[in-house]
Amino acid sequence: MNENQPAPKRTAWTPRETVAELDRYIVGQDQAKRAIAITVRNRWRRSQLPEAMQADIAPKNILMAGPTGVGKTELARRLAKLTDAPFVKVEATKYTEVGYYGRDVESMVRDLVENAISLVRAQAEEHVADKADRQTEERLLDLLIPRSSVSSSLSSDLGGGSEQSEDDARYERSREKFRVMLREGLMEEKTVEMNVTARSAPMMIGGVGMENLDVDMQGMFEKFMPKNTKRRAVTVAEARKIIVMEETDKLLDDDKIAADAIEACQTNGIIFIDEIDKVIASEGKNADVSRQGVQRDLLPIVEGTSVQTKHGHVKTDHILFIAAGAFHHGRPAELMPELQGRFPIRVELDELTKEDFERILTEPKNSLISQYQALIGTEGVQVTFTSDAIERLAEYGYQTNQMTQNIGARRLYTILEQLLDELNFEASEMAGAPVEINAAYVKDRLADICEDEDLSRFIL
Ligand SMILES: Nc1ncnc2c1ncn2[C@@H]1O[C@H](COP(=O)(O)OP(=O)(O)OP(=O)(O)O)[C@@H](O)[C@H]1O
Ligand SMILES: [Mg+2]
Repeated sequence: MNENQPAPKRTAWTPRETVAELDRYIVGQDQAKRAIAITVRNRWRRSQLPEAMQADIAPKNILMAGPTGVGKTELARRLAKLTDAPFVKVEATKYTEVGYYGRDVESMVRDLVENAISLVRAQAEEHVADKADRQTEERLLDLLIPRSSVSSSLSSDLGGGSEQSEDDARYERSREKFRVMLREGLMEEKTVEMNVTARSAPMMIGGVGMENLDVDMQGMFEKFMPKNTKRRAVTVAEARKIIVMEETDKLLDDDKIAADAIEACQTNGIIFIDEIDKVIASEGKNADVSRQGVQRDLLPIVEGTSVQTKHGHVKTDHILFIAAGAFHHGRPAELMPELQGRFPIRVELDELTKEDFERILTEPKNSLISQYQALIGTEGVQVTFTSDAIERLAEYGYQTNQMTQNIGARRLYTILEQLLDELNFEASEMAGAPVEINAAYVKDRLADICEDEDLSRFIL
């Protein structure tokens, strides 16, 4: 596989391939990568079995626990990019118990369906793209040379048969000429008049945005909202964008898309629940009623229930749930017992070591160092980091985490910002002079801060 290409999305990754892909972005955490890779593959294995057997094989949900800033959320983000299964990442803290103000837990399933709809829709759009393009070209030609401008309808009324066909032939000839010019891109700036539909902005009801409205309410309101059709002059380039969308819409079967999307959710959907530890009730606080309630509401969804969405009912029995949390204050054992039981695969993520920090700085695709190099590179300034500079940075990061608060790899962000503060400010005026960042450069700018506990508390 090409090093620089993002891997194509698919579901049929083998465990080894999944791990290899995740390795490109995330350092260490092998146990978590393995668990995720196996679970993902198990979905595919299940899909190969006879239907009667499929129904009995429940997904093995994963619970990831580990300190802050060690890659839990990052794993989810990368997995999302890898898989072409419907996928959403949600934060448990966003939800409140049914009846309280806020989002109800079931809305995560509705989000999953929306995600699946866009996946399925994108595939379907690809399928009809050629046809939509052809129809768009015809409509653009209609706009560029309306038929009436060449052959007047009067002539046919007067019974001028041969005149009529001559007009038609002339029209076809100019149409073909325009077609050639259109294809060569010579007409892009020309203006044409067309009807453009503009839907009024979604209204707010009781302070709740449209996306929070349940089930079919949103669709209902959309129907009520006036559609403004206006005749406007637009360039051919703009007209093409509008027409392609209209033609694509006409070619797509919304009911089939919805049905396929629901099927995809039910058999392949993955819901990543982040910050699950934050819904553990701690004693004697008011918010706990709601936290415990969130766990209680979560239970049936994870166990398998049917959730109503505006596209239809979704059975959640075979949706894969991956939950993650730092579990600083509570332990997984403090989740409701029934809920614990639904997450049989437990993975611990490791604290990051100084060596991990070195690797995180440099190895992952689009690593922090390469991001800064690219950013400053836009000013024509080439920045290089020597290996002893990297080592020193990792050491400072690790040390600061030990001395103050351990925020994992996030510490590297604050350290690098501090290190490059001067360069970030001045790069625009450096007229392309290259900069080498070595251990001395790092020490100069960071030693005072990193070695003083009070200073580093405030600055880093
Ligand atoms: N193992 C790792 N490899 C590469 N980058 C990492 C790793 N761990 C963390 N990072 C970087 O640190 C940042 C924070 O990591 P992440 O969001 O995954 O933390 P988390 O484990 O979810 O922490 P929290 O419990 O606070 O949510 C990410 O942007 C990521 O780039
Ligand atoms: Mg996180």
